[in-house]
Parts: sequence; C-alpha cells; structure tokens
Amino acid sequence: MQIGRVQRVRLGEFPTPLQELKNLRKHLNGPQIFIKRDDLNGLGLGGNKLRKLEYAMAEATEQGATAVITVGAVQSNHARLTTAAANRLGLKTYLVLRGEEPKNATGNFLIDKLLAAEEIHCLQGSAYSDKDELASLVKETVERLEKDLREKGETPYYIPNGCRSLHGALGYSSCILEIVTRLREEQLSPDCIVTACGTSSTLTGLALGSVLYAQEEMKVLGMSISASKEALDKKIERGLAEAVKFLDLKQAIDKDLITIYDEYIGEAYGAATDEMREAVRLVARTEGIILDPVYTGKAMAGLIDLIRKGHFRRDDVVVFLHTGGVPGLFAEQQSATF
Ligand SMILES: Cc1ncc(COP(=O)(O)O)c(C=O)c1O
Repeated sequence: MQIGRVQRVRLGEFPTPLQELKNLRKHLNGPQIFIKRDDLNGLGLGGNKLRKLEYAMAEATEQGATAVITVGAVQSNHARLTTAAANRLGLKTYLVLRGEEPKNATGNFLIDKLLAAEEIHCLQGSAYSDKDELASLVKETVERLEKDLREKGETPYYIPNGCRSLHGALGYSSCILEIVTRLREEQLSPDCIVTACGTSSTLTGLALGSVLYAQEEMKVLGMSISASKEALDKKIERGLAEAVKFLDLKQAIDKDLITIYDEYIGEAYGAATDEMREAVRLVARTEGIILDPVYTGKAMAGLIDLIRKGHFRRDDVVVFLHTGGVPGLFAEQQSATF
C-alpha cells in the first residue's frame, strides 16, 4: 500500500524547516551539517511525537474514540503532545505517569496541567520503587481506566509510550521525503541522519524513509538515551519487519543502513553528562538553537564525538534531527544541570 493512502489527521505544520549549521561546522571542522527542526512543528510546543500522533489519532477517530489514555514519565514529551493533539481533536486525555507528582508543576508537567488533561495519575512511592512492580501498576491503572470509561459510555483509545512502532515508522518516513526534497533545491543529497533513540520508532521511520526516498544511500545513526544497542537493534528489526509487511514492500530493509550507539547515555536515562552539557552549550552559543538535556543534547554529543573522531568526510551532508523536548530543560530536576 502507498503510504499516502494510510489514514492520517493533520496535527503539525509540515514540512518543518531545515537549517544549515555553518558556525557549528566551522567550529568542529567537520562535514556539512543541517538541522531538521521538528521541534518547530506547531502544536503543544512541538516535537517528534506529532508525526506519529497523526496516524495514532486517525486510528482513534476511526474507532469512534471519545478519550485517549497514554503513559510516560512525569516529564514525558509524549504525554504533553498527546494531550495537545487530543485537545485539537476534541478528545479527553487520561495520563498515567511514572514518578512522584511534583509539588511545583514545571517543564512538561506544567504544560500537561495547562492543557488540562482530564485526569493525571502519578504512580510512584517507595512501595513501587521496583521497576517491574511499577510497570505492572501502570498496566493495571490503564486497564482500570479503560474499564471505568467504557462503563461511563466513553470509547477509550490506548496509545503506548512513544506511540506504536508502526505509527512512528509511517510518520517519520515522510520526514526523509521532506529532507530529500529540500536538499535537492541546493543540489545536495543527505549521506546520513542522526537522531536520539528512545522507543526507536522515530529511527525506524527514518530507516524506512531512507529506503523509500533516498535509495538506501542515507545512513541512519541512532544515539540511545536509555536502552542497550543490542536491545534496540532487535526492536528496530521487528519494527521494520512490521512496516514492510503493512506496506507490502517487496524488498527487505538492509540492517547495515542503521547504526545504534549506546555510549552516550551516561549513568542513566535523563542523567546529565559532561558531553551533553558541552553539546547543548555549543549549539546554543554557535547557532542560537536550544536543544534539550534528555534526548537531543545527548544525540548531539554523539554526533560531535563522531565528527571529532573523523567518522565523516568533509563533503558529507549530515542531517541532525531536532526531535524537540525543550520543555524538559525547565523541569525542576534539570535546574542544576547548566
Ligand atoms: C524529545 C524527544 N526526542 C527523541 C525521543 C525518542 O524518540 P523515539 O521514542 O521514537 O525513539 C523522544 C521520545 O520520548 C523525545 O521525547
């Protein structure tokens, strides 16, 4: 099936800008670098979830949903953007968040409040400090909400953290079409795209886009912000197989197209690293562009490290995907980071 035939609702402003980072290039003495500004895609302070939500919300509407339930961490960008998208479509939002309810609402949590999600459940406390226990509690809470809502005559639609892999793959392949089309105006083609990698569905979409729109000549580099390379490789393989099947593509996607790096995570998900601080400061100082500390800051730290190690040729065209997340910079726990 052609991607254009898959149901989608319009949520963001696309194409997003593609800007050249000439000062950063000069500073690093590296390849030509462009930044794809998916942080500027228009709704709820923007970010990568909007391209995925365009497909998830189309499915929700098709199923007659009146409410959406989703999960994430207290400072989840995904929860913020799901609530914004639901507001745009007139649906209620129920958030199940991992972590203690902050005394002062800051960062993404503040925006969730402003967007007035119908209910926000923060699950944490010493009794749930065990990761598996917390995951089961999240699952139970979602199931209870689904049941209660159905009993009240509502039709809930569940969106997993970061959206379903297929929705990410569909949403992010078109990002490559935008990049290829825009670079063609300058008689350039992308050699490589770099992104932060969490659930990996953004990266899965970029790899699909490389096949569909860049003849597999554009490599996809993913900087993990949490999971190991092995775990992500397996997840991406499954995600790509699902997309290939769904679209009935005749060719399998070459795994060599993708490289995952897990050496820029630092101590843990969300924990600041010196390299992340340097990357966020450098891009702000040289280009006036603000990255976030949890995703794009670590991804940029990875890109800078690869450039310094001579990974790229001087005439390579490298695109860095700004996936958003900047509200996270204003979260209480980040206040001591910079
Ligand atoms: C700002 C930002 N960048 C990148 C990612 C990672 O995207 P994905 O989960 O599709 O790998 C996320 C996911 O939460 C995010 O919020």
